Amino acid sequence: MKGLILSGGKGTRLRPLTYTGAKQLVPVANKPILWYGIESLVKAGITDIGIIVSPETGGEIEARTGTGEQFGAKITYILQASPDGLAHAVKIARPFLQADPFVMYLGDNLIQDGLKGFVQRFQAQALDALILLKPVPNPTAFGVAEVDPKGRVLRLVEKPPIPPSNLALVGVYLFSPEIHTAIDHIHPSARGELEITDAIQQLIDSQQTVEAQTLSGWWLDTGKKDDLLEANRIILDEYLGPPQIEGTVDAISQVSGRVKIGIGSQLVNCTVRGPVVIGENCHLENCFVGAYSSIADGVTLTDVEIDHSVVLQGAQIVGIHQRIVDSLIGQRARLTTAPQRPKALRFLIGDDSQIELT
Ligand code: G1P
Repeated sequence: MKGLILSGGKGTRLRPLTYTGAKQLVPVANKPILWYGIESLVKAGITDIGIIVSPETGGEIEARTGTGEQFGAKITYILQASPDGLAHAVKIARPFLQADPFVMYLGDNLIQDGLKGFVQRFQAQALDALILLKPVPNPTAFGVAEVDPKGRVLRLVEKPPIPPSNLALVGVYLFSPEIHTAIDHIHPSARGELEITDAIQQLIDSQQTVEAQTLSGWWLDTGKKDDLLEANRIILDEYLGPPQIEGTVDAISQVSGRVKIGIGSQLVNCTVRGPVVIGENCHLENCFVGAYSSIADGVTLTDVEIDHSVVLQGAQIVGIHQRIVDSLIGQRARLTTAPQRPKALRFLIGDDSQIELT
């Protein structure tokens, strides 16, 4: 069984961060989202992995993720010249996939359930497709499945205005090589893409075996800021181990709960309430860092209170006296203020940024 991770796309819903970087490399608990997918495949015994990348962000993804050695996998990068749909990505991956069955994993999805059980069911029942479903409150934003009481898939529709159920298609799919024939029979959708949803419908129409399984654990599609903060909260809650302080913390600082502080980081007169992860070579002085915050490498925080937020590499936040909450601060961003209460606000804000003074 091979793995195919889709890591192209433009990441429009995470702008402005995605103007300068790949959405799949935005970190959750200081680790790129994409890497959770790789680790999940490897854990299920799938180590021959293809990653679909776009011309814009492929170089960055390859430079960060490497040959796969660090994950115990072999990674092949496959360039998708234009974002022509998920089924198009499978089409161009055909020389890599050959006649092997595979797990297709959308690089911005995170799921709690391990993949092993799904792989076992797929193989034991010799299925042509096993799709994963999750009830959602907003099915119009996803592919949606109509299933019979036995769990057999009757119909799939991509982002339907009137959804036939509340069961969304999760971005993890298991396919036999029959999917290639199905893809050869479909046409671009109204949005001009070759949809994987249409290819699976084609499998159903040609009497192949397509079954569905509802996820028992959480599923996060990290395409937007609030989803990303939620992913950060859940991952810190579930995966952060006991305190691990590799940096230096002075005697008046208070660090409580599950907190990880990386090598070369320095905390002076700070209060940190876990779960919190602070990367390497950060400088924090006179700060409060509240639960569910992830601070990436090389960040400077001085005279700041921050809570339930994600701060990316090299950002500097100095002297912001109102508490910063529910925020996502991009790489090398600078937020500063005058020592006395500021009389004016001066901004240089990237396109599509969102500032809320609440
Ligand atoms: C894609 C699929 C959709 C699926 C979703 C899961 O949508 O087309 O069927 O429900 O991923 O994340 P997209 O993220 O491309 O809008």
